[in-house]
Amino acid sequence: MYPLLLFSGSSFVGRHFRSALRDDQLFWTFCQKPEAGGLPFDVRKHRLADLPAAALKARHAIVLLGDTSLERCAAQPEVTRETNVEGLIRLLHDLLEHQIFPVFFSTDNVFDGHQGNYREVDPATPVIEYGRQKAAVEQFLSESGKPHLLLRLSKIYGLRPGDGTLITGLVDQIQKGEVVRSAADQIYSPIWAGDVVQVVLGLLEIGAQGIYHVGGPAAYSRSTTFDEVAAQLQKRGMGSGASQQLCSIDDFGLRETRPKDTSLNTSKLWNQLPWQPLSLPQAVEKVLEQI
Ligand SMILES: NC(=O)c1ccc[n+]([C@@H]2O[C@H](COP(=O)([O-])OP(=O)(O)OC[C@H]3O[C@@H](n4cnc5c(N)ncnc54)[C@H](OP(=O)(O)O)[C@@H]3O)[C@@H](O)[C@H]2O)c1
Repeated sequence: MYPLLLFSGSSFVGRHFRSALRDDQLFWTFCQKPEAGGLPFDVRKHRLADLPAAALKARHAIVLLGDTSLERCAAQPEVTRETNVEGLIRLLHDLLEHQIFPVFFSTDNVFDGHQGNYREVDPATPVIEYGRQKAAVEQFLSESGKPHLLLRLSKIYGLRPGDGTLITGLVDQIQKGEVVRSAADQIYSPIWAGDVVQVVLGLLEIGAQGIYHVGGPAAYSRSTTFDEVAAQLQKRGMGSGASQQLCSIDDFGLRETRPKDTSLNTSKLWNQLPWQPLSLPQAVEKVLEQI
């Protein structure tokens, strides 16, 4: 299985792969943020063959790279499509041609959010540009007829205080005494980035192919996430003044009307992997232990 080829190692999730694996298990790329040990790769102008020959000996590639801001995709669809659609399809085509097995990271935003608890067999019905871009790449992969893995993820969080992700961001806001505006109607399936790494390695190990929904053990809304974080802070006497203002995701003045309940049914995944991911309450505990 090793070495793996990681596009890109400078991403939030990519950093978790880099810390879980040894240097000799990984070739990894960066785009705008050069770092020692990485390979420069801009999917808009580079082709797979531009990478060093040693990297092309990899048999599996994890494809994380992308212009991942939903607001930027909405504001600049043509610009973001150069990376998220044209560039990624070109890269995936090259990987398949080189018989390198791609693991593509997609999103719960390929769904319209009316139904929730989406299964792998549910059709993609994107209503925002970011979701349409991911769905276009999904379609290319599915129609390629070549072996691949297509993972749909919802909200991926870290555990390092200050990393500005789901839990750590809320802890910061609550400890600063901010009134947190929480969308009660935005529902997702959060998972720790460290578990995402183990999911990918586990699926590769069992030779899995096709679509998998990847999320933690339960769905949460913004407001139930707040409730969990606030309750644990209060229990530890670390932030008793927490307060939230309930609202809708529609109240944030975003460019597009966002899908609401994009929670994922992850039973296919967890029936095939022999371990359980961290739950959100366990993750909150781990974050607070470090403060
Ligand atoms: N984070 C989540 O909650 C979440 C949820 C669902 C799905 N996903 C998917 O999971 C993947 C990883 O997410 P993430 O949050 O870790 O991403 P991220 O931190 O936003 O990183 C995106 C990466 O893409 C690279 N990149 C951007 N434009 C590029 C280009 N033109 N050519 C080559 N590389 C380029 C960037 O490299 P530089 O920084 O070096 O420029 C950066 O490392 C993404 O595909 C995302 O859609 C993430």
